[in-house]
Order: sequence, then structure tokens, then C-alpha cells
Amino acid sequence: MSHEEFPTDDPAVVTCGLPYANGDLHVGHLRTYVLGDALSRALRRVGQQTAFVCGSDMHGTPIAVNAAEEGVDPETFALEYHEQYEETFPRFNVEFDNYGHTHDETNTETTREFVESWIDNDHVFEKEIQVAYDPDADQWLPDRLVEGTCPYCGEHARGDECDEGCQRHLEPGEIENPESTLTGNPAEYRERDHKFLRLSDFQAYLQGFLDRMEGTDNAKNQPREWVDGDLQDLCITRDMDWGIDYPGEGDGETPEDLVLYVWVDAPIEYVSSTKQYSERVDDYDWEDVWKIDGEKRHGTEWDDDWTDAGGEIVHVIGRDIIQHHCVFWPAMLRGAGYNEPRSVLATGFVGIDGKALSTSRNRAVWADEYLEEGFHPDLFRYYMVNGSGLETDVDFSWDRFAERVNGELVGNLGNFCYRSLLFAQRNYDGTPDTEVSDDVRERIEDAVDEFGAALDDYRVRDVGAVAVDLADFGNEYIQRNEPWKLVDEDPDEAAQVIRDCVQLAKAIAVCMQPVLPGKAEELWEQLGEDGSVHEAGLDDALAAPPADFDEPTELFEGIEDERIEELNAKLQERIEEATEDDEEGSDADETTDDEDTMDFDPEPLTEKRIAVDDFEDLDIRVGRIETAEPVEGSDKLARLEVDIGVETRQVVAGIKQLHDLDELPGTRVVLLANMEKAELFGVESNGMVLAAGEEADLLTTHEDAPLGSKIR
Ligand code: 2FM
Ligand code: ZN
Repeated sequence: MSHEEFPTDDPAVVTCGLPYANGDLHVGHLRTYVLGDALSRALRRVGQQTAFVCGSDMHGTPIAVNAAEEGVDPETFALEYHEQYEETFPRFNVEFDNYGHTHDETNTETTREFVESWIDNDHVFEKEIQVAYDPDADQWLPDRLVEGTCPYCGEHARGDECDEGCQRHLEPGEIENPESTLTGNPAEYRERDHKFLRLSDFQAYLQGFLDRMEGTDNAKNQPREWVDGDLQDLCITRDMDWGIDYPGEGDGETPEDLVLYVWVDAPIEYVSSTKQYSERVDDYDWEDVWKIDGEKRHGTEWDDDWTDAGGEIVHVIGRDIIQHHCVFWPAMLRGAGYNEPRSVLATGFVGIDGKALSTSRNRAVWADEYLEEGFHPDLFRYYMVNGSGLETDVDFSWDRFAERVNGELVGNLGNFCYRSLLFAQRNYDGTPDTEVSDDVRERIEDAVDEFGAALDDYRVRDVGAVAVDLADFGNEYIQRNEPWKLVDEDPDEAAQVIRDCVQLAKAIAVCMQPVLPGKAEELWEQLGEDGSVHEAGLDDALAAPPADFDEPTELFEGIEDERIEELNAKLQERIEEATEDDEEGSDADETTDDEDTMDFDPEPLTEKRIAVDDFEDLDIRVGRIETAEPVEGSDKLARLEVDIGVETRQVVAGIKQLHDLDELPGTRVVLLANMEKAELFGVESNGMVLAAGEEADLLTTHEDAPLGSKIR
């Protein structure tokens, strides 16, 4: 069952994972929001009615603990961050149609309705379970208040998620060797009644849902093993004061001090935020999106006709919360008679210097800090969206930021628009009075088609590349035709070339708007257009530009090497301080250190010795990666072509999420050439590229040993 192409007749909603109102925003957070914003702008561009909504995630243990430490109530604490986020997002041109929060009235009410609906439909049951308890602090230890060992992978895990290992959601009572994060003492397990959503009711539904769901490969593939295996029921209550109260059935059996698990009311905020938007405007009805034909249809089945009956729900999230969005959330929606997500796009992480960002260790580039450097927000947006594929984990680098800006924006896109409009203005006061040539019209039509095709596949990076590719074409076109010579030699031809270039500049403005909205508007104004580029549609790429416009200015400013050196030095200093903290063991509160998952603990040396001859059996060669592309259907695998002097080998390597594949060609590597051949996801692997550690740091050579040299 496939979905209709965009634009459909139904409204769409694009949501981004809600930020916990618990700390300053950094570039890692911003990646998701910039992508969500670019995607929703692109959808509107092709004529899809779209609301872009989000909100702050106000509940959960870290917020309660941090608030207590600061001596304020959790609501005051979280609201302060909520207000900060509301101000920060627009400064990155991330313009939500509605930005609410999970503790507001709408969400409290919608959440109650959801839970009551599950109760009415018999999807909720009560069970006595083991819950961690701190006898010294005399309190229950929900979620982040307990840490220990993951029962699935044996790694250190915190509360409700195995954040250092397999990333699975953990249910209360599952964590082994529990310790209280409040006192550091071993925790006890005590019996306690809790409420559960019976996820097993939805197993067949979820299996079908994953077949229908669109989005990134990681979101489509990872949940398979969870929905095909035993589907564990979801505990929806917690022993806490801070949260939304469990509505209860008035049977007197449920302890009254239970609140709903933060992951219940958080995704429901997607619905609540859409409701709030829909209440403010006349032409958008939240029920058309979230309900199926406006009717409540309960049950655990799905009728394929409904796939095109509700609206288009698109979730943009970080890859750590795939299980919540592709397993729990669709079941929660179905259990309350709601529509299902059309697609889930799960982005890779942003790291620095090969390590995850860390709030408590200050290993981050902060949102405010970027803006204080005086860089335009669109430059960051471009770097985030076009610097790598959506699923790839990326290392934030000022060098690569500057390379992209100086190469693609200043040298290519900005340069083309400026030289074209300047020439047009000086020689014709604006757009020459003639029609666009057939060749250029066709090139723009192709660009518009590619924009739509990339959008249908959620290739947001390729959507962003359309404008840059047009500028590339334009630069080559103007260079080849040399209008500055034609002006005297063949004035009609000169006018034709410049007419084409002005049209290309207009098409560029239209196509760059999702990723570079501020700069697109500037270009639009330079073209003398009335109104705003945000109101224009994709068809405007071929509409005639105004006859007159003023002298243009350069759209982008180059970033000097010295500037980047300064930024690198500052960041390096910070990385070193964070590393010292890692080594010494930071005093920082671990419960706020949300993502510091890459600390290194080397494996012990092996006792077993091998003979020289055994080593000689290994045919290890120097090679160079020629091409690198993802293996279809796999989250982790990439297909590489490696030149090893004597021949070129096709190798499949598990490095897709760990490297930016586009940057790999040209990299010298070390390849085990007499490895047994294997077939992975239908692709033959003939050799093995050697790499170090969890992050697959590729082994290379110090000097330029010729390709094919044997490693001894
Ligand atoms: O993981 C997080 O940061 C959560 N605050 C995301 C919630 S997204 C949603 F489902 F609401
Ligand atoms: Zn685990």
C-alpha cells in the first residue's frame, strides 16, 4: 500500500521531536528542527497544505531533579527553558506554526482523552511489578533516578533507556544491578501496582504499519525486530508528582499518586499543538489530519482504504527515539481511534571531535554562541541539511562549515546571482525584454521535477541541492556564452543570455527557500519582486521576473581562514577541557548529561600469540576509496569501491552511520584482500576495510605508499 505523491488533497502536519525543557540548545538539537522546517517549507512549495508544529517536553525525572536542585518548582524551571526555545527557534528561521508545551491545558486534556479512550477500548490493564526503590531517600526511583546494567546488551544503562548500548527502551524493573542516582546506593526492587497499555493488542497492526510507513531506512528497519518478536506491554504510569495525573477509573484500586509516563503525554503534544494551530486559523482542521475522515475508528485492525483518508503525518526525530515513534506511538494513536504517521525521518547524531555532544561537559557548539558569532542562520541551515544525508552521524566542524559556505554558497550560488543581476541591471536596468530560451526553460523544468521527486523520497538534502545545481549550470552557461563580449558583437544574443540568467536566478530563489529562507527573500527583493518568496510556489520558477530592479548586493560573505582558525582554537580548548573532565570523572550532575555516550574504555590485550607465518597469511594492501554509497535496505552498511593497485574491489562495510559517505572517496585505506567473500543485503563483499574502534576510524597510511603495497 503506497501513499499518494505530494501534494495530496489532505492537509499535512510535520512535527519535530519535542526538546526537553531542561538545558540550552546546541547544534545537535538544531539539526532536527532545521530539517523539519526545511521539509515543511518544501511541502508548502509544492502546494501541500502543511502545519509545522512542536512544543517543549516539560515532564520527566531530569526536569524534576534539576528543578529541585535549583530550589524551584518543575513548572517554573521548565517554563523558563520553554520561553527560551520559543525565542531561539525563529532566530534559526525555524518557524513553527504552533509551539506549545506538554504541560499546557490543551495537552493535559488531549492526553486524558487518549488514556480514557484506551481504557474504554480495553487496552489498559493493571499489574503488580517490581519498581526500584531507594530506602535511604525513602522514595521510588522512576526512569532516570535509577541506573544499572541493560538486560539486553549488558551495557551500562540509565532508567528507561539503554543509552550507552542497544538504545532500547527499558521498562520499570528491567534494569539489572540497580543503583539510585539520588544517593549512589544500591536500589531495592519493591512491588507496586502500575497501569499498562497492552501493546500486544497491536502487534499485527504494527507489523502492517511498518510495511506502509515511509521515511528513513533506520526508522523502517530497526523496529522490525521489536514488532516481530514478543511485544512487551508499556507501563504508562510512574511514581512521581510531576506530570499529568493518571485519569483512573474511580475503582479505588489505583494509587492516586501516579502520573503518566512522560512518553505518554509527549507525543500527544503533536496532536495538541496541531489543535492549537487549527483553533487560530480558518483553513486548517486538525481532525482532518489526525482522525480518519473525522470519525473515531477504534480497534486493532487497519483498513487499507484509510491510508489516503486522513492527513499526512510526518515526524522528524533523532535516531535515538525510533522505538517510541515507530512502535509505541502508532499503537497509542490506533488505540484511541486516530490516524497513523505517514512517515518517520530519523536523523543521525551530531558529534564533535568524534564524541557525542555533552551538555554537562560543555562539549558543544551552542545555538546562542553560533548566532553571537554573527553568522547568518541560513549558513548553519545549509551546512546541516546539505552537509550530509539525513541518517548520517556527523561531526560538527567549523572547517567543513566554511568549506560549504565558501565553496557552494559564496563561490557558486551567490556568485552566479550577483554577476547575473549586476550585469542585467547595468545593461538593461533589470530583466531584458525577451523570452527565456528553450534550453534554459527545460533546465528549470528539470530542476522543478527533481525538487518534487526528492521531496517525495524525503531526500531533503537533494531538495536543497536543486538551487546550487542550478547555479552551477548558470555559472557554466554565463561563462560559456560570455555576454560581456556579446554586448557589442551580438546585442540580441547578449540580451538572451542575460534574460536566461535572470530567470535562473529567480528559479534559484524559489528552490533555495526551504533551506535558505532568509537569503531567498533577499534575492527575491533584489529581483524587484512584489510580495514574499515564501508566498511563491514552485511554478513561479518559470514566471517572468520584473522588468526593473535595483543594483544587487552580494548575497553571501566569504568566511576568512583566520576566522575559522580562531573558532577552531576556541572549540579545541573546550574539547580538551571536556576530555579532562571525562578522564577525571566530572562533578557534573549525571542526570543532566544526556548524550555523553562515547567514553572510551579499551579492551584488554589478548593472551593468545600468533606465529609470523600466520600473519603472512593475511594479504593486507594499501587502497583508496573510489566510491561510497549506502546499501539499500540496511541501516549500517555501505558499498565501497576500493582501488588496490592491481584491481578495484567491491567491499561492504558497516560504516554508513559513522562516516559521511560523500567525503570518503579519495580516502586511503587498508584492506584485507584475502578475506572470504560474503554477500550482505544481496551485495557481494570482496575484502575487508580495516578500522579502529566502535566509531570505525578507518586505518590509513602515514606516507603515500603506492596503492596495492602489501602491509608487513
Ligand atoms: O528524547 C527527547 O528529547 C524527547 N523529549 C522527545 C519527545 S518527542 C515526542 F514524542 F514527543
Ligand atoms: Zn542495551
